[in-house]
Amino acid sequence: MRQAPAVLYSAQQIHARVSELSNSLSKMIPIGDTPHFVAVLKGSVIFLADLIRAIRRPVTLDFAHLSSYGAGTRSSGKVETFSLPQSSVRNRHIVIVEDIVDTGLTLTTLRNQLLDQRPQSLITVALLSKTARRRVDVPVELIGFTVNNHFVVGYGLDLDEQFRELPYLALINR
Ligand code: PRP
Repeated sequence: MRQAPAVLYSAQQIHARVSELSNSLSKMIPIGDTPHFVAVLKGSVIFLADLIRAIRRPVTLDFAHLSSYGAGTRSSGKVETFSLPQSSVRNRHIVIVEDIVDTGLTLTTLRNQLLDQRPQSLITVALLSKTARRRVDVPVELIGFTVNNHFVVGYGLDLDEQFRELPYLALINR
């Protein structure tokens, strides 16, 4: 039987922070505008689902699939792009949704792709940031929680595809 990892942030704490993030996001996007959310697969899907239900306004969705961790517990430093959003982002208010920004290389790759298409605005909301590990200076407008160099799983985040289903964020000691 797999042991449940130690709770870092409970489901209630995450819920409260997602609500604050969605309020902040709402204030950054003009009233009456429909923001276009671009979520980075796979880790961000649960955060995305909660965020768009908390924002209480129409949104549209698309996905990008990039990966830098592979099966390891550290960002590999090499970003693989499996797929990019299919919809046009031109003149739209774009919200990139990330579960975690670590070195910043994945986010930089995606931002550059999207900025090339001239969106009206581009905001990134990340549930977690390992700010101390940044290798590139990339803007992250909204951050849920800043974490030290721990390996975090749950609420969409995995360790070699395990633990994504946990309703809370947990620490893996390795
Ligand atoms: C994680 C995370 C970010 C990226 C951050 O994805 O979801 O996209 O790594 O790392 P970086 O800032 O060092 O580039 P991962 O490779 O684990 O893929 P997954 O979301 O499919 O699990």
